[in-house]
Amino acid sequence: MSPAPHRFRAVLDRVAEEVAALPHRGSPADYIPVLADGDPRRFGMAVAELDGTVYGVGDWRQPFSAQSITKVFALALVLSLDGEGMWQRVGREPSGDPFNSLVQLEYENGIPRNPFINAGALVVTDRLQALTGDAAGRLREVLRTESGNPALDFDPQVAASEAAHGDRNAALAHFMASYGNIVTPVPELLPAYFQQCSIEASCADLALAAGFLARHGIRADGSALLTRSQAKQINAVMLTCGTYDAAGEFAYRVGLPAKSGVGGGIVAVVPGVCTLCVWSPGLDRRGNSVAAMAALDRFTTLTNLSIF
Ligand code: DON
Repeated sequence: MSPAPHRFRAVLDRVAEEVAALPHRGSPADYIPVLADGDPRRFGMAVAELDGTVYGVGDWRQPFSAQSITKVFALALVLSLDGEGMWQRVGREPSGDPFNSLVQLEYENGIPRNPFINAGALVVTDRLQALTGDAAGRLREVLRTESGNPALDFDPQVAASEAAHGDRNAALAHFMASYGNIVTPVPELLPAYFQQCSIEASCADLALAAGFLARHGIRADGSALLTRSQAKQINAVMLTCGTYDAAGEFAYRVGLPAKSGVGGGIVAVVPGVCTLCVWSPGLDRRGNSVAAMAALDRFTTLTNLSIF
């Protein structure tokens, strides 16, 4: 017998009710000035089932700044186009440091710890730029196709704001270029990376777009984006590195592969079952949404759907 449609509806309603009672919801990112206006009381959560059915609660159709969530899709694209070569240039270990940290790069010879900290994401975007000539455009295309939302787009105001406050990312890129681990000229790479981060998408869009990770690499149209093994690899790196220096705490509380962004979104994968996306702009000190993390914690507790 196939499962009932919208089988997580009651759970979502209960999670939203519980999250509404949270006493502390953190503060929006303020290092990108246009994100600082985010209202921590906003909350949305969507579930996408394997067949593409999507539903949600609260602001689940409200577009927000995807930010670092896009790093998952960039990595997936590079692996799909280029295979395993990427792993010569970026590691797969948690960093234990903040997402924008420079400190490990020098004694690790310009090889970032993982593809989800900024340094690693810059290397992945560099490879995507070299492979396609338009990293951000290709990323937008794959997100549009997988979410089924042709209107999904960059937010030029966010990209400009990032560029205006982009000294740290510029420093990371130049430093890695000095080791030969960035090949695109840095003044060309940074705008592509800032555009990538500025993609606006809703919980519904991102839950649907990440569906290939729950379907072991299979896209919405049934074709393969990744091999089963590559999908496993990305889920594994999300589990260990997707929420930065809180990855241990996140695995402990939620127990799912996930990727957060400083726009307040978190995408999580229940392999073989569904994908989830939760959004609420208030962040903790490590850059993860307080309410989104709490919601995923409650979701896995109420459903017993963690990978453990
Ligand atoms: O590179 C940056 O600073 C941002 N545009 C992306 C960072 C991000 O979302 C990290 N997340 N928690």
